[in-house]
Amino acid sequence: MRALRTPRLCVAALHLGAFALLLGGCVSTDIVYRNSQFPQPSAQAKNFVGYSQADTKQTTCGNCHVDQQTKWSGTKHSHAWADLQASGHSSGECQACHSVNDRGNATTDTAAGYTSTQDVRYQDVQCESCHGPGLVHITAPTIENRPLASIAVSLGSDNGCSECHTGVHSPFVEEWASSRHGIVETAPSTRPECIGCHTAQGALAAFGVNTNYVEKMSTTPLPITCAVCHDPHDATQTHQLRFAIDAPNLDQNLCMRCHQRRSNPDPKSANGPHSPQGPTLLGTAGWFPPILIAQGITEIDATHGSQVANPSLCATCHVNRATVTDALTGAFTFQSTGHNFHAIPCLDDGGKPTADTSCVVTQRSFVACTASGCHGSENAARGALISVESQVDLLVTQLNSLVAQVPSTEFVIGDDKITTGEGAKFNARLAAMPGQPVHNPFLIRTLLTASIQQVELDYGLTLSGAVVAPVSATEIDAIRARNARAASTTAQLKRSP
Ligand code: HEC
Ligand code: HEC
Ligand code: HEC
Ligand code: HEC
Ligand code: HEC
Ligand code: HEC
Ligand code: HEC
Ligand code: HEC
Repeated sequence: MRALRTPRLCVAALHLGAFALLLGGCVSTDIVYRNSQFPQPSAQAKNFVGYSQADTKQTTCGNCHVDQQTKWSGTKHSHAWADLQASGHSSGECQACHSVNDRGNATTDTAAGYTSTQDVRYQDVQCESCHGPGLVHITAPTIENRPLASIAVSLGSDNGCSECHTGVHSPFVEEWASSRHGIVETAPSTRPECIGCHTAQGALAAFGVNTNYVEKMSTTPLPITCAVCHDPHDATQTHQLRFAIDAPNLDQNLCMRCHQRRSNPDPKSANGPHSPQGPTLLGTAGWFPPILIAQGITEIDATHGSQVANPSLCATCHVNRATVTDALTGAFTFQSTGHNFHAIPCLDDGGKPTADTSCVVTQRSFVACTASGCHGSENAARGALISVESQVDLLVTQLNSLVAQVPSTEFVIGDDKITTGEGAKFNARLAAMPGQPVHNPFLIRTLLTASIQQVELDYGLTLSGAVVAPVSATEIDAIRARNARAASTTAQLKRSP
């Protein structure tokens, strides 16, 4: 029997059928020795051990890995079997995804665990569903035989979350794979300053997840997979998310942890905005021209970023579950999980959301805007988008025409200052990114109007054609009122370090 060297681990060893403590000196609450029994699994189970006590949902693994056992018992995985029975539709084909067997792990033998034994100890989605069969490890836990889980997912894969979260009733992997979270851009996949948001391994490390998994040390970067956003064990946050979706805060909101790379101009580079959606929603993105700062305006809040008016923030619009039915018969055709992350997706002929982004606004689904209860009808939301986008398009064109006349000496990189020309150019790029007029219409419009005025003032230029009305005292009052309302509920959250 091998003595364990890892100091944080409790030292445990066991014989088949019963745990027996050999050495003392536990220093960890992560893994503790428990003097419990587990019935020896039959040979047909192919080394899956399942529950040591099915009636209390005590997993065999959880006898030692107490922390994971406690967390897992709060997840939906722990009652997947009962939910299947309660549906009244349980049949053989359903059971593979609601029990322990080859699904979700590296085992490919379809007759294993529940599938080969029909034993209650293998009901529910337990540890070994993701970690694979554990008999060898349990017999003598070592570094070599630890059953690490995989965080990789892909279409048609026979390992990981995607082996169960697939099919017409649960097409998470199908929709995810068609989104940009499902791909790795080459440029940011190796540079240390980019991987914290662009690869799964980098993101988990940035989130402080230091546990081991199959691909942790792999040099092949994975995209933003399920286990980046979802905690495999812990249901403290809704839907086992790693961070809240309702926190109006760059550090505590799941989406904003990444969607915040550059939202203000950098005096040391000519780079434009980079994933500025978080700060835009919260009203702090962009270059605030001196004429706004003089009025005391340094942020501009709006409804879509309000925790009160829109509690799920980004997820309300970008992760919307919707059932697609046949237009003629009304029969169920597809369950969209919202995991292609498009707020206003294009639809295919059957009404199913697609990853295509080339369709025109009249062909897009605005169902996320009505499902949330915010807009009365899809057409009302569509109309609001068309209206704000056309205003913003015009302002961007006008601002760009002015910026083009600003002397090139105003655009010096690395001079440690942001000139009016540089700030205005940044704001025009910020406003022109997809979705920005929706993320915060008041911010975007006011930044553009104020930038136009500031450029005219500082460089003695005037717009040809339609004149942009200056930001009026009424508008400033409206901004102040909105900011004050938001401040009363969310100021602390927003400004925490
Ligand atoms: C008898 C106690 C015991 C049982 C039961 C047990 N483990 Fe372990 N497990 C350990 C110990 C001790 C280690 C540390 C091994 C080492 O690093 O030498 C470990 C390590 C691990 C690791 C790696 C952790 C890391 O830090 O890298 C995983 C994953 C794991 N176990 C999963 C499982 C699963 C899944 C089961 C159920 C099939 C299970 N264990 C059952 C004691 C146990
Ligand atoms: C063996 C099949 C299987 C595997 C593997 C699996 N799941 Fe599940 N998962 C299920 C089933 C079945 C449910 C529904 C359980 C229920 O509600 O009864 C579920 C539910 C969930 C939920 C719903 C939680 C909620 O509160 O709404 C999340 C999130 C989830 N799984 C994430 C994952 C992730 C992430 C992975 C991979 C790390 C994964 N699952 C692997 C079968 C699986
Ligand atoms: C390919 C794997 C797979 C198969 C096969 C499967 N399920 Fe599921 N089932 C899942 C997953 C994954 C979830 C969780 C989905 C989610 O949270 O949206 C789930 C969730 C459920 C739920 C919802 C539990 C709840 O209330 O939250 C029920 C009920 C259910 N399945 C019943 C069935 C029935 C009945 C069948 C067979 C006709 C079946 N499942 C076949 C994977 C599967
Ligand atoms: C703080 C998180 C974060 C960091 C750090 C980060 N990015 Fe990004 N990046 C994102 C997000 C989120 C998106 C997607 C949102 C978008 O396109 O607006 C993105 C998009 C991109 C895109 C696609 C842009 C497009 O328009 O299609 C490229 C290329 C890119 N990043 C390169 C990089 C490089 C190179 C680095 C390192 C120098 C880097 N990123 C660092 C979060 C980050
Ligand atoms: C839905 C899939 C899934 C289920 C179910 C699951 N795990 Fe895990 N487990 C993972 C993944 C993925 C990781 C690595 C990422 C992480 O820790 O967040 C992991 C990590 C671990 C580790 C490594 C900890 C370390 O310190 O390195 C242990 C131990 C572990 N799980 C034990 C368990 C036990 C015990 C259970 C059942 C009570 C369980 N897991 C259930 C997927 C799962
Ligand atoms: C970019 C982050 C992100 C990624 C990646 C992601 N999810 Fe989710 N997922 C979410 C959010 C956010 C919600 C909750 C949406 C809400 O409540 O508004 C969610 C909800 C869920 C739910 C429960 C809700 C439901 O419709 O039943 C399941 C199950 C789930 N995800 C599974 C998966 C699986 C499987 C993958 C990988 C194929 C995955 N997720 C990838 C963010 C993510
Ligand atoms: C771990 C970092 C990370 C997290 C967390 C994250 N994203 Fe992303 N997101 C990215 C990156 C990186 C890209 C761009 C990938 C690329 O183009 O290479 C992206 C792309 C997107 C896209 C463009 C999708 C497409 O297919 O065009 C949307 C929309 C999006 N994210 C929304 C969200 C939402 C909503 C959440 C929270 C539920 C979220 N993201 C959480 C990193 C993240
Ligand atoms: C009120 C609804 C709403 C909210 C809230 C929202 N978005 Fe968007 N978002 C949109 C719309 C609409 C678009 C434009 C989509 C298009 O033109 O295809 C968009 C576009 C995007 C894009 C560009 C890629 C794409 O899918 O077109 C990204 C990335 C993005 N949003 C991320 C986020 C993030 C991150 C948050 C939270 C900080 C967020 N959004 C909050 C509605 C919203």
